[in-house]
Amino acid sequence: MKNILVIGSTGQIGSELTLKLRDIYSGPSVVAGYIKGAEPKGALLETGPAEEVDITDAARIAEVVDKYKIDAIYNLAALLSAVAEAKPQLAWKIGVGGLYNCLEVSREKGCALFTPSSIGSFGLSTPHVKTPQDTVQRPDTIYGVTKVTGELLSDYYAKRFGVDTRSVRFPGLISYTTLPGGGTTDYAVDIYYSAVRGEKFKCPLKPGTFMDMMYMPDALRAAVEIMEADPSRLKHRNSFNIASMSFDPEIIYAKIKEHVPGFEMEYELDPLRQRIADSWPDSLDDTCAREEWDWKPEYDLESMTVDMLTNLRKKLIAEPAT
Ligand code: SER
Repeated sequence: MKNILVIGSTGQIGSELTLKLRDIYSGPSVVAGYIKGAEPKGALLETGPAEEVDITDAARIAEVVDKYKIDAIYNLAALLSAVAEAKPQLAWKIGVGGLYNCLEVSREKGCALFTPSSIGSFGLSTPHVKTPQDTVQRPDTIYGVTKVTGELLSDYYAKRFGVDTRSVRFPGLISYTTLPGGGTTDYAVDIYYSAVRGEKFKCPLKPGTFMDMMYMPDALRAAVEIMEADPSRLKHRNSFNIASMSFDPEIIYAKIKEHVPGFEMEYELDPLRQRIADSWPDSLDDTCAREEWDWKPEYDLESMTVDMLTNLRKKLIAEPAT
């Protein structure tokens, strides 16, 4: 049985990944780590232990790791790209300082460590179409700088100290459960909410802005499968390109309109998000993940759209205020 600590368990990824890990590794061994003001509720609270764990407090991480005999840490604490630009010092403190704390605790106590990287780890000078696994990474956002630093530091700890660090570069993640809040790819979630609420969507990015996106169930599976992968097959660790779909605002709008014929969209550009999106890849080449740990996505734009609309309709009827 694995004992796992999820740091950032109430966030965009953590709120779903923690429950999935509890399903896989059975109830009481998966600890939901949260910060003050973002306490777990509902199923997250009811299905297993929860502990306040601020990623900037290394002693506290170590205490919880000892208390539950933790074997693996999922480090999901982060500020997303647009929010990070407004608070670069905090983004570094959480993204790099927090990761350093996780690495040190993992080194001392023998934990495996998962820390997501992102399409945001690439920059303007990266080849934008079918971006290779190993290529130029010169991002000009603080989010990207923390991600590249994190990839390098995690690989360093694997080589130098034998810490079992692993990671994937997530595309924009789309889910009906927890809103992202503060990212550049958030529009691809918000657009579904507008469609289901019958509102006209104001798109912050211009037509032709292509980025990689992924439906949350695929992303969660990737986070589990990379940690379960046979280490003898891994030529890379931090971090693997993974991909499932790439689209621009016109393509996702047209897809939703097939299912919600009256849906309308207009453009109201956000210059910061546009600048960030323009610097990120249009699409990633995930051949290495496919070869080294059999990565394969299950959802495409059509199947994701059907599932998003079905589940969002149910959710918005049940919780109209969300
Ligand atoms: N979804 C993230 C963002 O937009 C990218 O990893 O900031």
